[in-house]
Amino acid sequence: MGLYAALYLWLFFLYSFHSAPIVDGVGCNWGVKASNPLPPDIVVRLLRDNGINKVKLFEAEPLVLRALGRSGIEVMLGVPNEFLAPLASSVSIAEQWVMQNVSAFISKYGVDISYVAVGNEPFLKTYKSMYKQTTLPALQNVQAALIKAGLGKQVKVTIPLNADVYQSPNGLPSAGDFRSDIKDLMLRIVRFLQDNGGPITINIYPFLSLYADPHFPIDYAFFGGTSSPVVDGSISYTNVFEANYDTLIWALEKNGFGNMPVIVGEIGWPTDGDPHANVEYARRFNQGLLNRIAQHQGTPKRPMTPPDIYIFALIDEDRKSIEPGNFERHWGLFYYDGTVKYPLVLDNGQNLTQAKGVKYLDRQWCVLAPEISIGDPRIADSVNYACTYADCTSLGYGSSCNGLDVRSNISYAFNQFYQEADQQKGACNFSNLSVITQTDPSQQNCRFEIMIDTGKHEEAVTSASARSSWRPLLLGSACCCRGAWVLFVKLITRRQMKTIFMNFGSRLLLLFLPFMPRPLCAPLY
Ligand SMILES: *[C@@H]1O[C@H](CO)[C@@H](O)[C@H](O)[C@H]1NC(C)=O
Ligand SMILES: *[C@@H]1O[C@H](CO)[C@@H](O)[C@H](O)[C@H]1NC(C)=O
Ligand SMILES: *[C@@H]1O[C@H](CO)[C@@H](O)[C@H](O)[C@H]1NC(C)=O
Ligand SMILES: *[C@@H]1O[C@H](CO)[C@@H](O)[C@H](O)[C@H]1NC(C)=O
Ligand SMILES: *[C@@H]1O[C@H](CO)[C@@H](O)[C@H](O)[C@H]1NC(C)=O
Repeated sequence: MGLYAALYLWLFFLYSFHSAPIVDGVGCNWGVKASNPLPPDIVVRLLRDNGINKVKLFEAEPLVLRALGRSGIEVMLGVPNEFLAPLASSVSIAEQWVMQNVSAFISKYGVDISYVAVGNEPFLKTYKSMYKQTTLPALQNVQAALIKAGLGKQVKVTIPLNADVYQSPNGLPSAGDFRSDIKDLMLRIVRFLQDNGGPITINIYPFLSLYADPHFPIDYAFFGGTSSPVVDGSISYTNVFEANYDTLIWALEKNGFGNMPVIVGEIGWPTDGDPHANVEYARRFNQGLLNRIAQHQGTPKRPMTPPDIYIFALIDEDRKSIEPGNFERHWGLFYYDGTVKYPLVLDNGQNLTQAKGVKYLDRQWCVLAPEISIGDPRIADSVNYACTYADCTSLGYGSSCNGLDVRSNISYAFNQFYQEADQQKGACNFSNLSVITQTDPSQQNCRFEIMIDTGKHEEAVTSASARSSWRPLLLGSACCCRGAWVLFVKLITRRQMKTIFMNFGSRLLLLFLPFMPRPLCAPLY
């Protein structure tokens, strides 16, 4: 072996050792469709405390991205499906998107954006063919924009796809191929991804297999083995995850893409909203999954190269659409407030730990007033109203609060509304049927929640005297800092302004105090 060859090999090994930690670790999907989302800085700390070193976001939320800046957490940034048509229509729209939502966060805030995920399950059968025409052109335009922005190497494109883009006529992985109505399109997409070094991203949900088919063998949904494995040639599949994943690998291989890198973009198990969505099953599934990740376990078709995996999801989201089912709002490893649902040992060997520094609203609940009889004709409308605007999914069949008696059931609905409305004055008033109590009405598995304080509450219930104490500050900043304010207001958009105020409220004004000329402002204090 020549010196150069030896050196080359040595460098090669160095490189592969060096690059190993990058693919290590576990990822999580971080969605923000919540009435009272946890503040982004608390979530980033939660991620770091738990050694979760990758996140997948569904859109470019500025405060979320900023909080991820210089955190050491790698980001897959999603583009919502509504953006596919505009992005497909012109490269310059894609360039603006990349400039505002990728380049700016990388250069200004040091966000480690490694992937842009264009669209979200765009070929889901339920979308009919709505995004069929726009997905590939949008992908191409975003790729071109990334190259133009000088990010072609650093940021890769991908498309998170639902597992129904491929199928197997006989149920065996080896017969896997892409769905016939989108096969040509899928092959063009995969070729484009391969040409640009992007992976294919696939969402796999054993829970949904169980949910959709009452005869689905339960053990096969988990990772602990099954008495009746699926035998495919020389391979015995003992869990649906491996069988499903390998169906894709076969489909890729058959079409000449045997080496295509694959990411599992979503996988997880919900804890409420369905008889199979419970803490015991979720723990069993997610612990099995995390053990695989910790052991770098691949699948029979790809034993040596396990996929990067993003668990769905980090935190519960009480504003998600429940069209797929009531379980949709309960996928989190953590509850809405970052508390732990069940013990879980992560790939770093530590137990899951809860969020720190969470601020709650006051310890009070809204319940059905004791003097109201359950026969009161106004109740039905009030409960209906509460559950239209707030999350009552835990009351449904097979859910954590399904066992409540009628009174508590009504109270649960009232309280959800009251909490999601930030305990605002008047939010616990259902035709005078309800009262506020300081006694926790929670029972067994059913939690009567207290929402996170996101600052909206203070504005709503501030008494007249407390409010007037802020007036000099407002006046002060208006009189002394006009220049600063005008600049500030010009620099940020209205939407950003709203978000900033929602998150920091009037505390923001304090920021301007140091800039005020003392003599001018003194009389105002
Ligand atoms: C950046 O992303 C956000 C959120 O997805 C979107 O509202 C905004 O329009 C995007 N910016 C551009 C220039 O497209
Ligand atoms: C994790 O939590 C479980 C149950 O709460 C406990 O038995 C176990 O000792 C903990 N493990 C570690 C590593 O802290
Ligand atoms: C409680 O409320 C939910 C939703 O409003 C309903 O589906 C359920 O049947 C109720 N249960 C009882 C015991 O009233
Ligand atoms: C409830 O709202 C009504 C008007 O919508 C008001 O007259 C009443 O005083 C309120 N009751 C309470 C307890 O706040
Ligand atoms: C609620 O009670 C208040 C007085 O406590 C009364 O003025 C009001 O009319 C009541 N509202 C309804 C909708 O019953």
